[in-house]
Amino acid sequence: MSVGVIVVAAGSGTRLGAGTPKAFVGLADWTVLDHALVRVSDAASVGSVVVVVPASHVASAERQAGLVLRERFASPRIDSVVIVAGGSTRQASVAVGLAALPAGVDVVLVHDAARALAPAALFDRVAAQVAASGDAVIPVLPVADTIKRVADGVVTGSPARSELVAAQTPQGFPRAVLERAYAQASRDETDDAALVAAIGVPVRAVDGDELAFKITTAADLERARQLLGPDAEPAARRVGVGVDAHAFAEEGAGPLWLGGVEWATERGLAGHSDGDVVAHAIVDALLGAAGLGDIGSLFGTDDPAAAGAHADWFLPRARDRVLAAGYRVLNVSVEVVGERPRLAPRRAEVEATLSALVGAPVSVGATTSDGLGLTGEGRGIGAIATALLA
Ligand code: CTP
Ligand code: MG
Repeated sequence: MSVGVIVVAAGSGTRLGAGTPKAFVGLADWTVLDHALVRVSDAASVGSVVVVVPASHVASAERQAGLVLRERFASPRIDSVVIVAGGSTRQASVAVGLAALPAGVDVVLVHDAARALAPAALFDRVAAQVAASGDAVIPVLPVADTIKRVADGVVTGSPARSELVAAQTPQGFPRAVLERAYAQASRDETDDAALVAAIGVPVRAVDGDELAFKITTAADLERARQLLGPDAEPAARRVGVGVDAHAFAEEGAGPLWLGGVEWATERGLAGHSDGDVVAHAIVDALLGAAGLGDIGSLFGTDDPAAAGAHADWFLPRARDRVLAAGYRVLNVSVEVVGERPRLAPRRAEVEATLSALVGAPVSVGATTSDGLGLTGEGRGIGAIATALLA
């Protein structure tokens, strides 16, 4: 049996109302999606994963979610991680995920990222039942409330509570069954089992798990935080500092590179690489926070690969070292010290560039040094960075 999991995370989270797609909302130092993926990667039966995210988040998910599965929680079992852009409904997003499943997968589990705390054992239980029965399998819990059918404010029916259950995910299917159900789907349903039932395939119920509740509202998110308990505490936060300064190069030696962007009309800085003091200070802050030494010990000041290298060479490498050491970057703050260039007009661009390279928010400020020292005399530029890791 080869099990593939489709994690749907492409919803906007309207009811949560966090201003960010729900799967990318923070939850105890991680995102909702990261929590879901950690548990998927812990499931012994899972061999491949397709993550369906909003089109706007494919790149960041590639960096972040991809890393969660491939590096931090590198599992020899998981041989494929694919990230794709979802559709306008949950069903459309599952369809995209289904089309992206690798060949060879014969059991498919479809999971809502919003059920971020669904434990690894639940995936294994559902997958084992699919394999044993050849049917569709869904995890369910008894309902606590009495459920009513209502039309125009008037109760029209009272289904017996003893017959009702609440359906959760992951829901499991033989791949061919789910593909057929999607090919023949004639209406939009809120879960996959409904489509499979519509083509006459039996759907079996197995015991669900309280932890597989769906994060829908702010209260649900708070409940998830509470349940994570001590793990949600900032148990292992580490801070690092990095400083760098470079003198201006000779006139005409090339443009300035600062904060990961080119300043075409400004005088460049001297250095073996591009002399980007902002990028170098960030590298030292990241490495320092993780206890991994500094830029010189990691890359070597005369490393030929670093010759002329820009921030887009240094920063992803430093970030990957930090992640491989088991840390995650929470944020970085940098202060540029110098008389010029004036940073303010391009601050947003610099911050966006650096944030994308680091994979976490990077904020940038600037100051002069009151005419004092290398920076004050206009002979060069300095930068001081701090990084916070979890
Ligand atoms: N989902 C999806 N693509 C969509 C809509 C939903 O992948 N177009 C995913 C969500 O990301 C979520 C799961 O389906 O993991 C269950 O959906 P729901 O809880 O309704 O999440 P949202 O649609 O994001 O929330 P809301 O309905 O409050 O906007
Ligand atoms: Mg929804």
